[in-house]
Amino acid sequence: MADTNVKTDELLALERRYCSFGDTVHYLEPPKVFVNCEGSYLYDEQGIPYLDLQMWYSAASFGYKNARLNEALKRQLERLPQLACQYLHAEKIEVAARIAQYCEKRFGVKGRVHFNVGGSQAIEDSLKVVRNYTGKNLAFAFMGGYHGRTLGASAITSSYRYRRRYGHFGDRAQFVPFPYCFRCFYGMKRATCNLYCADQFAKLFESEYHGVWDAREEGAEFGAFYIEAVQGTGGYAVPPQEYFARLKATCDRRKILLVDDEIQMGVYRTGKFWAIENFGITPDIIVFGKALTNGLNPLSGIWAREELIAPEVLPPGSTHSTFSSNTLGTAVALETLKMLEEEDYEKRVQEKGAYFLAGLRELQQRHPGVIGDVDGLGLALRIEICKEDGITPDRDLAGRIFAEGLKGSLEVGERKYGLVLDVGGYYKNVFTLAPAFTITREEMDLALELLDQLLGRCRN
Ligand SMILES: Cc1ncc(COP(=O)(O)O)c(C=O)c1O
Repeated sequence: MADTNVKTDELLALERRYCSFGDTVHYLEPPKVFVNCEGSYLYDEQGIPYLDLQMWYSAASFGYKNARLNEALKRQLERLPQLACQYLHAEKIEVAARIAQYCEKRFGVKGRVHFNVGGSQAIEDSLKVVRNYTGKNLAFAFMGGYHGRTLGASAITSSYRYRRRYGHFGDRAQFVPFPYCFRCFYGMKRATCNLYCADQFAKLFESEYHGVWDAREEGAEFGAFYIEAVQGTGGYAVPPQEYFARLKATCDRRKILLVDDEIQMGVYRTGKFWAIENFGITPDIIVFGKALTNGLNPLSGIWAREELIAPEVLPPGSTHSTFSSNTLGTAVALETLKMLEEEDYEKRVQEKGAYFLAGLRELQQRHPGVIGDVDGLGLALRIEICKEDGITPDRDLAGRIFAEGLKGSLEVGERKYGLVLDVGGYYKNVFTLAPAFTITREEMDLALELLDQLLGRCRN
């Protein structure tokens, strides 16, 4: 039960009257209220457990109320809960050092870390670093890409729906097809395409009349290419193994920086600390956030190659936010990094991901057509809901399943359950599954059972 005397019905009435509808709450009507959480579950007012397969869009990857991380927060709450970020504290420095040292070990490149609070804010900082270094405002980004909702981040986020109320975006990115092979933009088949999409991008630079390249000065109009190694909001689309090496070669040749947005996929979601490590390339800038603090006090940031972020290039005061390297967030982040060094998360996430994906493939066989595609990397898994033909996106069915899961009326044995899903993808027909890394086999089996029931209930 919640520690409040106000009942859910009254809360919803107050919300309807006093809260802005501008966020995403009213994607569901009526919106859902939760009062407790633990491990992989959220609980409603009646104490019904909802198995969470999206964990706050991968921000709470280490499980709700993770004892070790909560303790780190409590310790800092007692010791140094507040400090203007103009002054130093140990955890900030240690987190920066660990991330920079990890990148140096992994990529053989020296760099530095700059902190902020939310993901979009860190994206803004990366845009500043790119502009400062290259003198260019424009960027390439992917169709299906999502980088946040501040104005700068919206300009490089593919969906026009997020921009249309807010006037003209002079620095809107040029959007390039992502290798989302289940629905290839060019209508190709992976077996025979030879990464046609990578060639099409390279081709843009072949003539100045393709609009992006000054052949005389040998310079691009674009300072950076913003990528997500595995698209998050775009539907957990996993690209072919060789794709990014081809893209990076073109970017290097045309002196375009590669900015790797790891806000959703970083911190082991795909079985590697950075998702890009699955694809064997070294980015120029990495942007992180979300799971580093398991959804406790937020902390985001960027790592950039020394050349881009050295003090002579980005001097004091170049960018700042009051809460940027907050003591509570850095304390949790440091504990997270220590925890990751002590346990083999690569193995844990890959093993659990393989088990879950095998279960999803069986589920797909029980619902042929309707589940058009399942795929995944680590514990970033996707279920694409389609019409009986196995390809036409069925957004309505995905929406019905999502809403039905949140009713908390599924039954297994004697118990009632709900299921928390997130819907993403280019056609809003993809369940993007980001279960907790602490999820057990029994809980994955339960998830498959609940998904099976939901599909049975909501089809037709
Ligand atoms: C890949 C990616 N980039 C950026 C963001 C924006 O982060 P925030 O919502 O913390 O501003 C998100 C959030 O979902 C994301 O998934």
